Amino acid sequence: MNAVNVTKRKCTSGGRPGTPKPSRCSRAKKKAKEIAGNIGIKRVKKAGACVTCHFISGYKKNKVKAIAGISCESCHGPAKDWLKVHGDYGGQKVPRERETPEHKAERLAAIEESGMIRPGDLYRLAANCYRCHIVSDEKLVNVGGHRSASHDFELVSWSLGEIRHKFLRSEGKKNEDVPPERQRMLYVVGQALDLEYGLRALAKATEAGTYATATTTRVQRVVDTLQEIDALIPIPEVKEILEVIKGIDLKIGNEAALAAAAGTIAAATQQFADANDGSRLTALDQIIPQVEQYKGKPGSLPERVAVHDLPSLAGRLNRR
Ligand code: HEC
Ligand code: HEC
Ligand code: HEC
Repeated sequence: MNAVNVTKRKCTSGGRPGTPKPSRCSRAKKKAKEIAGNIGIKRVKKAGACVTCHFISGYKKNKVKAIAGISCESCHGPAKDWLKVHGDYGGQKVPRERETPEHKAERLAAIEESGMIRPGDLYRLAANCYRCHIVSDEKLVNVGGHRSASHDFELVSWSLGEIRHKFLRSEGKKNEDVPPERQRMLYVVGQALDLEYGLRALAKATEAGTYATATTTRVQRVVDTLQEIDALIPIPEVKEILEVIKGIDLKIGNEAALAAAAGTIAAATQQFADANDGSRLTALDQIIPQVEQYKGKPGSLPERVAVHDLPSLAGRLNRR
C-alpha cells in the first residue's frame, strides 16, 4: 500500500448509516499526500511525523513499523505487556466472577504498571486524547498545512458520542449512559488538559504564523471557559491554574516559562482528578455540552461501529 491509511475508517467502512461517501475518503487521501509533500515526506506510514497520531507502532521483522490505524491501544496503552495479566483472574481455571478481591487489586496494579491506561485514571486517559488532538508540531501546520488541532475538541462531547463504549457493567448487553458526576469530571479535566497541551504547543512556537496564532487563540478560549467554571463553583485546583496562567506571557519564544506552567497545571489537574468524583459539582451542569453537541452517536454492541476500529471491542473482550 502506498502512503495513506490515515483515513482508514472512512475508506473501508461499508454501508453503515452515516458512512461518509467515498469522495470524502479520496479528498482526505489527497490532503494527506499534500501535507506529506509539503514537508518532504514520501511515505506517510514511515514518517514519525504522522505515525505518532495516525497509527500504532509495533515490531515487524525487528523493525518498528506502523501496524494499524487507531484502536484500543491508542487510548488504553500498548496491550502487548498487559493483555496476559489483564485476563488472569488467579490461575487458569478461575473465571472472572470468582477472582478474589486481593487478586483483583494486585492484578489492576500490575496492569497499570505494565502500561495500560485504565478509565479509573482519568487524567492519563484524557491526556492521551489531547496528545493527538492538539498538534504540537509547528512545521506540520505552517509548512505542511495540517490543521493545528481538532478545533471543537472537548472531552464530554467527543467521548460520549460515537466513541462511547460503556458496556462493561451489563456484560456487553448495553452501551450505558455516562452519569452526570462523571461528565462533570470529564468536563473540568478536559478543559484543564486543553490548557496544558495548548501551552505545551505554544512553547514550541518559533515564528509568527497559523500555528502560533491558532494555538494562542485556543489557549485564550480555554482560559475563558476555566473562568466561567470558577464563577459557577470554586474549585481550588482551577483557582491555582488560573493563577498560574495570569503570570505567563503567551508569546513566541517563551518556551521555558510556558513549559513550566504546563507542568504545574498538569500536577493540579492530576490532583483534581484523583481527589474528586464530580458529585458536588452540580453547578456545572448548565454549561456541560448536551447530546446535540456530541460528536456522532453512540452505537449498540456488538454490531456498533465507531471511529478507531471499535467494532472489534466485543470480540476482544470476550477473549479475555
Ligand atoms: C499530533 C498528532 C498528529 C500528527 C503528528 C499528524 N496528525 Fe493528521 N490529524 C490529527 C488529528 C487529531 C486529526 C483529526 C482532525 C479533526 O478532524 O478534528 C488529523 C487529521 C488529518 C487529516 C484529515 C484532515 C483534513 O484536513 O481533512 C489528514 C489528511 C492528516 N491528518 C494527515 C496527516 C499527515 C500526512 C501527517 C504527517 C505528515 C499527520 N497527519 C500528522 C493528528 C495528527
Ligand atoms: C478514542 C479513545 C478510545 C479508544 C480507541 C478505545 N477506548 Fe476504551 N475507553 C475510552 C474512554 C475515554 C473510556 C472511559 C469513559 C469514562 O469512563 O467516562 C473507555 C472505557 C473503556 C472500558 C470501560 C468501559 C465501561 O463499561 O466502564 C473498557 C473495557 C474499554 N474502554 C476497552 C476498550 C477496548 C477493548 C478498545 C478497543 C476495541 C477501546 N476501549 C478503545 C477511550 C477509548
Ligand atoms: C493516537 C492518537 C489519538 C488518540 C490517543 C485519540 N485520538 Fe481521536 N482521533 C485521532 C485521529 C488521527 C482522528 C482522525 C482520523 C480518523 O478519522 O480516524 C481522530 C478522530 C476522533 C473522533 C472522530 C472525529 C470525527 O470527525 O468524526 C473522535 C470523536 C475522537 N477522535 C475522540 C477521541 C477521544 C475522546 C480521545 C481520548 C479518549 C481520542 N480521540 C484519542 C487520533 C487520536
